[in-house]
Amino acid sequence: MTACFCPVFVERKVKTEGRRCAEEVKIMTFSAKYLNSVIHPLGIYFKKITGMKGWKIGMKYEFKGNRGNFYMENPDLTSYLYFPLANESGVMSCVSPDLGGDSKMDQNSFLMPPVSCENLHNDKSSRNVWCRIDGSTLWSLTGRSSWQQAQKFSENKEPMAVEAGFMHHKITRTSDQIGIKGEISSLVPATGESVELMKIQIENTSSQYKSFQIITAIPLYARSADNIRDHRHVTSLLHRIKTKSSGVIVTPTMTFDERGHKPNFRAYGVFGGSESQGPVGYFPVLEDFIGEGGSLENPKALQERQLKPEKENFKTGGYEALGGLCFQECRVGPKEKITYVVAMGYGNTEDELIQNCSQFLSERAFDRCWEQTAEYWNHKVNVRLKTGNPAFDLWMRWVSFQPMLRRIYGCSFLPHHDYGKGGRGWRDLWQDCLALLMMNPAGVRQMLIDNFGGVRMDGTNATIIGNRQGEFVADRNNITRVWMDHGVWPFLTTELYIHQTGDLKILLEKNSYFKDMQVCRGEDKDIQWKTEDGERLRDGRGRIYSGTVLEHLLVQNLTSFYDVGEYNHIRIRGADWNDALDMAAQRGESVAFTCMYGYNLKGLAVFLEELKAQGVAEFEMAEEVRLLLAEDPAVYDDIRRKQEILKDYCRTCSHHVSGKRAVVKAVDLQADLLSKASWIYHHIRQTEWIDSKEGYGWYNGYYDNSGNRVEGETKAGVRMMLTSQVFSLMSGVAEDPQVKDIVKAADALLYRKDIGGYRLNTDFHEVKMDLGRMFGFAYGHKENGAVFSHMATMFGNALYRRNASGEGYHALLSLFEHCSNSEKSRIYPGIPEYVDAGGRGMYHYLTGAASWYLVTVVTQMFGVRGHYGNLIFKPQLIKEQFDEHCQAWVSMEFAGKSLKVLYKNPRNLDPDAYRITSVTVNGIPCHCPGEEWIIKREELLKLPDQELHTIMVELN
Ligand code: G1P
Repeated sequence: MTACFCPVFVERKVKTEGRRCAEEVKIMTFSAKYLNSVIHPLGIYFKKITGMKGWKIGMKYEFKGNRGNFYMENPDLTSYLYFPLANESGVMSCVSPDLGGDSKMDQNSFLMPPVSCENLHNDKSSRNVWCRIDGSTLWSLTGRSSWQQAQKFSENKEPMAVEAGFMHHKITRTSDQIGIKGEISSLVPATGESVELMKIQIENTSSQYKSFQIITAIPLYARSADNIRDHRHVTSLLHRIKTKSSGVIVTPTMTFDERGHKPNFRAYGVFGGSESQGPVGYFPVLEDFIGEGGSLENPKALQERQLKPEKENFKTGGYEALGGLCFQECRVGPKEKITYVVAMGYGNTEDELIQNCSQFLSERAFDRCWEQTAEYWNHKVNVRLKTGNPAFDLWMRWVSFQPMLRRIYGCSFLPHHDYGKGGRGWRDLWQDCLALLMMNPAGVRQMLIDNFGGVRMDGTNATIIGNRQGEFVADRNNITRVWMDHGVWPFLTTELYIHQTGDLKILLEKNSYFKDMQVCRGEDKDIQWKTEDGERLRDGRGRIYSGTVLEHLLVQNLTSFYDVGEYNHIRIRGADWNDALDMAAQRGESVAFTCMYGYNLKGLAVFLEELKAQGVAEFEMAEEVRLLLAEDPAVYDDIRRKQEILKDYCRTCSHHVSGKRAVVKAVDLQADLLSKASWIYHHIRQTEWIDSKEGYGWYNGYYDNSGNRVEGETKAGVRMMLTSQVFSLMSGVAEDPQVKDIVKAADALLYRKDIGGYRLNTDFHEVKMDLGRMFGFAYGHKENGAVFSHMATMFGNALYRRNASGEGYHALLSLFEHCSNSEKSRIYPGIPEYVDAGGRGMYHYLTGAASWYLVTVVTQMFGVRGHYGNLIFKPQLIKEQFDEHCQAWVSMEFAGKSLKVLYKNPRNLDPDAYRITSVTVNGIPCHCPGEEWIIKREELLKLPDQELHTIMVELN
């Protein structure tokens, strides 16, 4: 009997929510839970029905141990699952539960054919490993035979499971029918070799002797992702294929690009063996292996009575290649196992490729590498937590790991991220540093200084980021796009850096400015600029001009201050944080980010005060920047005048700067910044608050290209955007009593628990061509009304900053509860970019949300953070977050020391009821002067290195 005959009546119902149609499958007669409990005793039936649409599929992972490793049964019954395997030397792989996915080193070096999300289930290319049993029965260890596929939803579905930890992944599959169990462990070595490894192990689970023969069938695509639909066939003609030293090697003769073909040196290969044997033959050509009419899931070559693989030193060319390794047929007794290791590798020469792969071709070498890899990443994810919710603590390990993945993969190279070429955008670059500041602060200083080299003198910045730190590339396609939020992020990251480290003097470090053809904030071109001039701004005498980090920040924030539209808020131009608000370049304004520019101007003034206290009373800056300072504040209301000032300034520095320096007094500069900041705060408070008749209110954050206010209670319905609330709260534009009103409005209009919490916006019921492409997306998806993790997390962060601990926790908890419930989110542990209308986590792993989540948990929820380098404690943990001993702790790096901050809350109070009563370091009481509980950096620096120091904080 198959699942199709289950006695269940399924009704498809069209549910209408607003104008959104969601198709829902409802199980009418039995709830799935009830059915499971009835049928479960029969065991087998439970397994049989798990894949049925609408059924509770029971795909829950369990954490094992304390590293975040997890175990999940039958992940092959969840679509779109993938897992990252990579290292810091450039290998980027991903594997699905049936070992689909791909492996590459960059856009132009894909070892396997590139996959995007739909290829995960539609493609037949995978890391297939076949076992021929007793010379006839064929079994795929990954379940990728057409007959195993056909049985997936029947009683014959083979049980399989995945177990995984950072950068290592193991699948297990059994067939009771055959009496066989297969395991494939996959990893990319943390030690940096350019390989992906698989350990293949087969066990005879029957009571008779059997003969097993293993054959791998891994397509060797060996070229650029572009060629998937740009001369796919022609580029296979470049392939030179040979069998050698336990492997199949493909070295294309050239890389194909009609703008200029280039010789190719990169060699790709699949190698295999064990302690005692290598392959006995090879299937190096894909079409020979699949045979006429066959496929990779039903290969004809393996159905021959006698296999006819090629021998070593076989050579051919001009075909799609295959990593087809054929091992010796072995007789295997009951409970006995056979093991092989396969290496899929890259090399700049064939010798290098062979060297990279051959060192791993034994079980011992593989097992050592498995341990090293697991250890390396476990050590690297060095923020740890313990709260009353162990699942949260372990899930946080994955969230903390995600920023590392984004440094490796950029925003490309995982199946949903099928765009870009591995780079990260400007805002991602800065926000990813936030997580680094939590985990590995040591290298951040230089990284920040280098990143400032991407700022243009008009306050905009390079948008193409090179491979090396501090390398920015001119856009030779001349696509002019200015994102108005870009100027906001560098200050936020620098602010956190200064507080975590106390290194205020970074503001006085110098770097150059980026230069290309774009000038006047994307409105003009500098036709005098030539590529040969280089990508750095020069002065009138042709010398590269350098200014301080402070000057860069001033340039970014002051130019924005003047770049206003008809409502006197900063123009949105190409878009703001929401990339999909991209159709309002002429008249659109982003009030949301104007709030943050206000915050930055105020924050800069605060740093100047501190610098003054440290004896820095004046600053040198480019003479031109003075144009943006010391205007009569009366000008701030005069939109036309502001625009003129900006234009004049941009003209003075559009080809080069004069090189003349002005000296500005800290007091004057500070006064100027503060007056600008307060003007912004006042202006937004006066003009953008929306008072709803429902008894709550919120801030309007946008004007569209028709010059209309976007949010409010309009004729078309209620329009509210989360971003506007996040930044009005975070900046402090929203006044204290407004905090609760905003939360009430967000709860009423945006919150949906069943998809992870706060959505990005209400349904506008309009394809708003005068605001952005997001309105073309179906409602509930991506930037149009999904629960977009990045903004939902920043909402939590903003609420904590406003001391709304319970509300902040609620925002973060809703996301965690949804994402970590794999039955609903259908992802492995971690935070996805967003949760779609049906509750699925989308674009897993590579998201700025992870950095923000981590920073929020450490610095706000636990309230462990720096204040000019000293350590302060402002816990906002609510009572349910403490464990059974009324304790919670976080361990992290701070001031170069490993610290564990342990909170004790013996009376189990909430943040509004508790206060700190004592602090000890390694048992020795701290004497904190004044109200604040603070440990001076000097004290921390005295602690020995290489030890974990416990700071105990009593709450009462
Ligand atoms: C992604 C982009 C980010 C952009 C956001 C909204 O978000 O990487 O730059 O601001 O979409 O359009 P992420 O998932 O990285 O947070």
